[in-house]
This record gives sequence, structure tokens and C-alpha cells, in this order.
Amino acid sequence: MLVLGIETSCDETGLALYDSSQGLLAHALHSQAEMHQAYGGVVPELASRDHIRRVVPLTEHVLAQAVRTLSDLDGIAYTKGPGLAGALLVGASVAHALAFALKVPALGIHHLEGHLLSPLLAEPKPAFPFAALLVSGGHTQLYAVGGLGDYVLLGDTLDDAAGEAFDKTAKLLGLPYPGGPALAELAQRGRAGAVNLPRPMKDSGDLNLSFSGLKTAVLTLWRREPASEQRRADIACEFETAIVDVLVAKSLAALDETGLTRLVVAGGVGANRRLRERLAHETERRGAKVFYPDLQFCTDNGAMIALVGALRMEQGKQSDLAFTVRPRWDLSSVVR
Ligand code: KG4
Ligand code: ZN
Repeated sequence: MLVLGIETSCDETGLALYDSSQGLLAHALHSQAEMHQAYGGVVPELASRDHIRRVVPLTEHVLAQAVRTLSDLDGIAYTKGPGLAGALLVGASVAHALAFALKVPALGIHHLEGHLLSPLLAEPKPAFPFAALLVSGGHTQLYAVGGLGDYVLLGDTLDDAAGEAFDKTAKLLGLPYPGGPALAELAQRGRAGAVNLPRPMKDSGDLNLSFSGLKTAVLTLWRREPASEQRRADIACEFETAIVDVLVAKSLAALDETGLTRLVVAGGVGANRRLRERLAHETERRGAKVFYPDLQFCTDNGAMIALVGALRMEQGKQSDLAFTVRPRWDLSSVVR
């Protein structure tokens, strides 16, 4: 089964072709990061308009890359939510128009299900069941994943997501949007332990998280002393270490609580090098194993949507002709 995947939930237009027997055949991505940079964050209306411009040329591009034509498609999968309503509607309407014209099924996919299962695009793939740390710009959650459509939420952020905290702190330190990668780069020049930040909820005894206090603590540090380049790097280093400390502690606690031995890390913050190094080390010490998607599939992409689309369409799932998007959507409500 050959499925076209369309991701337009935020500021990336991602297109991909996934074949059930041959795997990922092609993928293409256009990031709007540069366009939104001038505003310090995503401008929803600009995002929607740009998706409209990109989605058809990128579809043609992936088809050409895989030497396939529209008539080879067996189904179209698109991100139905959560995300920006206008941006989601671009992918949803293009998917349904194409599916109607080609007389193939269309299927709306949960964006977080895409992130959660994205390590299945890599080798070696994690077998079910596994624990999953989902760390994106909008979400920081821990799940127990029993199989396709079996997602039990173990812990959630009470306020800011880890990626959001990276982005807001980066902005505060005068770094460009998106802040995560820029802050991580600055942190490399920082001295470990030169300044101190809290590890919010690290020992809370549950699997919930909270990052907004950390951002406020950075603000206090930043205002206390005149800013030198070294101090900025020291703060970035301590901030990154604090977030990584908490994420690692909660991920290990999730493994303990569930008795699972496989951990999947997905979402944009999963690209963070320090997080990867620490988790690799800590899981190995416990005889557990950690799985990641390829770096290019950590952040938003069409490949994860095409993958989940193919897995679900193989089970006969498809959406109605009358479609809608779900800007807010709880992953635990998604079932087989
Ligand atoms: O999963 P994603 O692409 O988008 C959402 O669905 O939210 O995640 C984007 C987030 C942004 O907050 C970005 O700053 C963060 O991932 N990010 C990173 C790194 N790369 C991306 N955060 C820390 N370190 C990185 N290397
Ligand atoms: Zn995402």
C-alpha cells in the first residue's frame, strides 16, 4: 500500500511517500522558520498561506523522487490535529481533494501519534510495548505504548512544554527563533555549574513535569548581573542541563513504574545532543534501551504521518468525505 503523507500542523510543510512493504520512498520538507523569525514566533495566518504555496510543488517533488505518479497512490494521510486550525485545514483539504479525485481513501492522523511512532522509520525499530518521552514544542508527555492505538498517558507538563521553555528562554537570551537548537549551541560554550537553576518537580514522586518556573528563574538570573557573553553561555548551559536532568529522571521513573525496558524519545527536543547522550548512558546502565527517530524525523515531517497513515489504512481505516480538523486533541482518545 502506497500512502502520501501531508503534515501542515505548524510551520513546516512535510510531504512523504511510504510504502507498506518497501518503507519510506521519499520525503520533502519546507521549513517556514526563516519567515517567522522576524516576528519571534509562528504567525498562524502567514503559516497557512505558506502551506498553500508549498504543498502541491512538494507533492510533485516526492512523487518524482520516488518515480511514482498520483495514480499509484492507494491513500492519502494528513495531520488532522492538534495544531493551528488554518494550517491544518490546508493539509486536510488538499488530502481530501486529492483522495476524492483519485478515488482512494483519505485519513486524518493525530500529530503526536506520528511523533510517537516515528522511531519505527529507523533501524533498529523498537518492538511494542515501550515507554515514550514525547518532547516537542507544544507537548512534554510520557506514555506507555502497547501497540498501534494503545497510548496510556503516564505524565504531562503542568505548564510549558520543554520545547516551549527552550524557545522562550532562548528569546530572553536574545537568540533567534526557533530557540532550541540555538540555545543548545550556545550552551556548549558555557561552564558547567557556573550558575544554578532549579530542577522543577524532579522529585515530585509522580511523572508530571513543569518548566515555566525554570524560565522565570532564568529571567531573574539574567537581570541580576550585567550580561557578558560568557554569562549568557553559562546560563544556557545550566538551563539545558536542568531540563535534561528532569527529563532523564522522569523517563527512568516511567521505565521503573511500568516495568518496560524500551524507551522511545520523539519530538523536536529529542534532537538535543545532551539529552541523547545522558539517556543513552543512563538506560544502558539499567539494561534498558533507548530508541530515537533519525534526526531529520525528530522535528515535524511528513514521513511520520505517511507511516501512521499506512499502518492504519492497512486496517481499513478512512475518514468521511465531510472532514474536519481538531486543533486541540487528546492522544489518549485515539484508539485502534
Ligand atoms: O516536534 P517539533 O518539531 O514541533 C512540535 O510539534 O511542537 O518540536 C519543535 C521544538 C521547538 O521548541 C525547538 O526549539 C525544539 O523542538 N528543538 C530543540 C532542538 N531542536 C529542536 N530543543 C532543544 N535542543 C535541540 N537541539
Ligand atoms: Zn510536532
